[in-house]
Amino acid sequence: MSHKIVSKRQLGEEVFWARIEAPLIARARKPGQFIILSINNDYSERIPLTIAGADAAEGMIELIWQKVGKTTAELADLREGQSIANISGPLGTPTHIDNFGTCVCVGGGIGAAPLLPIATALKAAGNTVLTILGFRSKDRLILETEFAAISDELIVTSDDGSYGRKALVTEPLKELCERDPKPAQAFVIGPTVMMKFCCEATRQYAVPTQVSLNTIMVDGTGMCGGCRVEIDGKPKFVCVDGPEFDGHLVNFDLMMKRMNAYKKQEQAARAAYEKHRCKIGLDE
Ligand code: FAD
Ligand code: FES
Ligand code: MG
Repeated sequence: MSHKIVSKRQLGEEVFWARIEAPLIARARKPGQFIILSINNDYSERIPLTIAGADAAEGMIELIWQKVGKTTAELADLREGQSIANISGPLGTPTHIDNFGTCVCVGGGIGAAPLLPIATALKAAGNTVLTILGFRSKDRLILETEFAAISDELIVTSDDGSYGRKALVTEPLKELCERDPKPAQAFVIGPTVMMKFCCEATRQYAVPTQVSLNTIMVDGTGMCGGCRVEIDGKPKFVCVDGPEFDGHLVNFDLMMKRMNAYKKQEQAARAAYEKHRCKIGLDE
């Protein structure tokens, strides 16, 4: 069954949003879960994307993605009315949502997209939600209005000071952890290095921290081993055991090494796609 893109727009520099027909997934999905899609057929690359939102009654899911390589660029080039050949899901273990008290939600860059359904569910469960969103610069800012609507407090930072506070997210995170009482839980999603440093910060204050890991995935069912990570010294598969884990137990250095394993091939695939894109006139 193919999945029609019913609407699509650009949210920021290289960031896209789409509403897509997927009635079974829309009905079954829970916050924290993701899908794996292949754009054209069974031989296309499979990539995981978080279900950023869903409308069960209308049978629609929402995806938000950043153009970083060949497949995310190809997805960004699809137009409203066109279809995605395969979408599998919902995959992964849903986020454990509870009334923890005060939760800090930290989103870095495109990490704001997978964080939104979690923060929304935490708010609905009665938590006080303190959100920190960090971006490289103003043109990368996404979902500020959506987070403002569900957060008791929202702090936006940018690396270059072009919007909000000029800081890395770890700075306000430490300040929130120093409050009395300190937050009961932190949820952090973003680039691996950012999650690593956020976890080092929350560890100092003994604030339990959930991270959502974005390893390379292929099958998404625990069979290929592509998404293997080390948690508390033991091997785990992000697709079935995660994507969320206790951030204080993750071996981030090993994860970063594994994620960079195919850089050369990824760059070659993107270059070949850009050349093809130019030839078929998508640039016009
Ligand atoms: P490539 O040039 O092929 O790769 C760029 C980088 O992306 C690689 O260096 C690697 O780190 C990573 N990557 C490459 N192939 C894969 C793969 N098959 N699976 C996972 N990562 C890969 N991104 C979003 O923009 N929005 C989301 O909501 C989102 N949710 C995710 C949820 C999960 C559970 C996971 C594991 C990843 C998620 N990602 C999300 C990351 C997204 O899957 C990658 O950016 C995408 O696969 C890159 O594909 P590409 O061909 O465009 O780039
Ligand atoms: Fe293959 Fe997780 S994606 S084991
Ligand atoms: Mg790729």
